[in-house]
Amino acid sequence: MRDDAKGCTIWFTGLSGSGKTTCSKLVSKMLQERRLRTELMDGDVIRTNLSKGLGFSRQDRETNIRRIGFVCDLLTRNGVFVCAAAISPYKDTRQEVRKSIGRFVMVHCDAPLHVLEERDVKGLYKKARAGLIKHFTGIDDPYEAPQNPEVVVHSDGRETPGQSAAKVIRTLELLGYIEELPGLDLEQWAEEEIREMIAGRSIG
Ligand code: ADX
Repeated sequence: MRDDAKGCTIWFTGLSGSGKTTCSKLVSKMLQERRLRTELMDGDVIRTNLSKGLGFSRQDRETNIRRIGFVCDLLTRNGVFVCAAAISPYKDTRQEVRKSIGRFVMVHCDAPLHVLEERDVKGLYKKARAGLIKHFTGIDDPYEAPQNPEVVVHSDGRETPGQSAAKVIRTLELLGYIEELPGLDLEQWAEEEIREMIAGRSIG
């Protein structure tokens, strides 16, 4: 197969409510507008089919992430740009998936816990604080933030979802995964941030 027929996995990690789904959908839409083949793999959706029955123990979360990673690999090899959105709290599992796929861009959807708790879109943080949900990520279960993501999306209100998605697209351009096209609406600060991230990146 021609090398330019290859896709890429764009992996969104972050706490519940940190904007993974919103950003991944926007990125996917922008890639579609460029006539690229795309697919979305969202934790909430995957847990209703491919990972149905899995819970939130470390082992189950790892199984979930490995399954998502496996499908991402198949799709990526066949020219698809896959946006995967799952909390994926464990560094080692994320690294494992990254290594097996190769063409991989990590996006950290970053917002402080107190902001997410105030928003509490799904009402789950309140339940977790009340002890109604056990092992909730960020409350009584760990989240290991990535040390070397290609993109950090500031979903605490500092940037709009559109700006965040444009940052991801620009990163894909600069890393050579997609063609550079004019017309991407990206402020100077965002361009500089992306270039710094790419320059300082060390994939371990
Ligand atoms: S992961 O840890 O295995 O990557 P995944 O992204 O698939 O998680 O699912 C997270 C979603 O499941 C959350 O957005 C939330 O809606 C729901 N959920 C239910 N229980 C938990 C829990 N204990 N911890 C985190 N999320 C939970």
